[in-house]
Amino acid sequence: MLDRINSLKSEIEQLTASNSGEVEALRIKYLSKKGEISALMADFRNVPAESKREIGQAINSLKELATSKINGLRESVEAGDNALDNADLDLSRTAVPMPLGTRHPLSIVRNQIISIFSRLGFTIAEGPEVEDDWHVFSSLNFAPDHPARDMQDTFFINREPDVLLRTHTSSVQTRVMENSRPPIRIICPGRVYRNEAISARAHCFFHQVEALYVDRNVSFADLRQTLLYFAREMFGPETKIRLRPSYFPFTEPSAEMDISCNLCGGKGCSFCKHTGWVEILGCGMVDPNVLKSCKIDPEVYSGFALGMGIERITNLKFQVKDLRMFSENDRRFLEEFQSAR
Ligand code: DAH
Repeated sequence: MLDRINSLKSEIEQLTASNSGEVEALRIKYLSKKGEISALMADFRNVPAESKREIGQAINSLKELATSKINGLRESVEAGDNALDNADLDLSRTAVPMPLGTRHPLSIVRNQIISIFSRLGFTIAEGPEVEDDWHVFSSLNFAPDHPARDMQDTFFINREPDVLLRTHTSSVQTRVMENSRPPIRIICPGRVYRNEAISARAHCFFHQVEALYVDRNVSFADLRQTLLYFAREMFGPETKIRLRPSYFPFTEPSAEMDISCNLCGGKGCSFCKHTGWVEILGCGMVDPNVLKSCKIDPEVYSGFALGMGIERITNLKFQVKDLRMFSENDRRFLEEFQSAR
């Protein structure tokens, strides 16, 4: 009997457990009613009287040993479990949480416009924001006394020689036509400046995209089809367009394009002032005088041009009521475009 007790003792001293399930299994094995120690106690009856004292003490100390050993194992396993809980160990998580930035709404829309026109074969062209009168006005057929040259609209940096901030991206048309020969198919996104009082509806700088196509036999039908494609890609396949006659010095004939209001689907709402239509861009056939000023023969070549404000298109897509929001860098506003990327 003593041998059995001693071998159980050394067995118990070496017990280990790595989780609470294993601890419970050990408790059942040694300390439960059907466990090893209860079995020893049951056999205790058969121990001869003279050994009862010695064996009884040995069984008692074995029970104490088993109880304290198993309780100790339980405590350390639980402490370990808690430590894991605290570390919130989730092996499927990324190592470092990465706060994702958002694209500015104007960049989102500019990129969409660029992508639509690039599918039609247009490539990006850029020009300087600090310009001269020739590129912004004279080459584009603005008469010397045209009101757009007035100080009220244009930020002049210098008079003689004339240095000014471009008031539209049409200046890039001249920049490109001066330096390349048709066929020309370009799209020019960029920032423009006008001397306007800042309000919810006007700003002293904003963004435009200009498109220019010059080649043999370019017709108004080409322009119209390009506009329809653009409008449907940008605002959805149901979108309708209409062209209204207009005037720009650098195009003849000139037109303004409206699209069916994308908020009410053309039924009429406060956004489209109950007309069902909203204006989005100016366009026309490049005036022969503009081609001439860039030394392109208008007898051989013709072209169309169009220009739109990116803020305007962005407002139509995202209903931003106040233009100033675009340049205030308010993160609450910018973070709204998280999913539009
Ligand atoms: N440059 C004009 C503006 O700033 C927009 C524009 C109208 C551009 C007609 C064009 C065009 O190329 O053909 O208001």
